[in-house]
Amino acid sequence: MELKNIKIEQKEGILVVTLNRPEKLNALNFETLNELHACVKKIYDEPTIHGAIITGAGDKAFVAGADISEIAKLNEINGRKSAETGQEIFQMLENSPKLVIAAVNGYALGGGCELSMACHIRVASENAKFGQPEINLGILPGYGGTQRMTWLVGKGKAMELMLTGDMIDAREAERIGLVNYVVSAEELLPKCFEILKKVADKPAISVGLIIDCVNSAYNKGENGFQTEANAFANCISTDDFHEGTQAFLEKRKPIFHGK
Ligand code: COA
Repeated sequence: MELKNIKIEQKEGILVVTLNRPEKLNALNFETLNELHACVKKIYDEPTIHGAIITGAGDKAFVAGADISEIAKLNEINGRKSAETGQEIFQMLENSPKLVIAAVNGYALGGGCELSMACHIRVASENAKFGQPEINLGILPGYGGTQRMTWLVGKGKAMELMLTGDMIDAREAERIGLVNYVVSAEELLPKCFEILKKVADKPAISVGLIIDCVNSAYNKGENGFQTEANAFANCISTDDFHEGTQAFLEKRKPIFHGK
């Protein structure tokens, strides 16, 4: 698929996905959302990709939300469909068996905040701002934000953020558990690379299954403990389990092959 609104670059096994409409603060129009879907598929399918970073072009915004000029034209029927489509894409991202980090470099509002929350980890630059201002437009977060915000920061703070539509800065986002780290703008991508490289050296099957088990804790229809026990059993049948345990016993560093 030709990417018009997203730039991708693969460096050291990491796919850097940059939403690239800086003149519109990288607002997520439907075309960009489709392109993002193609990028998520690439993360799943491409064996040379071990993890990914999602970020925004320019120094002002990660993503300032869904594109309001498109949202304004929705009706009840295609509005529901558009929320479902966004939810599906973000769910696919959340369930990616390879680590995906949001490098939040400015405004992460509405669909942008939701996109960051669908990533496994968020690292923010000092100028980042988070918020769910949909209430000011007479709507609400439709790409999974009401759920993921509640999971990440708890019910009280989630209620306050979504009902007031207020923005919070990076330090407050860190304080309430919305982001893992706050770093300078220069340190943003290096910090994401540092985490991704650490995880890229780990056994890939364990990585994917840990992501799956953590996500299962938020799936009401699933017994997360059973998911964990099954995943544990899966790991035991891998070559990497044999390598990890033998390396420990032989007092050497393990070399994992993702099998
Ligand atoms: N959808 C469509 N266009 C958007 C947008 C969005 N979510 N966010 C910003 N833009 C556009 C602006 O319309 C403007 O375009 P223009 O130059 O053609 O007029 C451009 O991006 C720059 O934005 P601007 O508002 O001039 O920048 P600012 O620094 O004054 O304000 C924000 C920045 C983020 C506070 C402001 O753009 C804003 O509130 N955006 C909407 C946030 C939102 O409600 N998101 C949820 C959407 S569901």
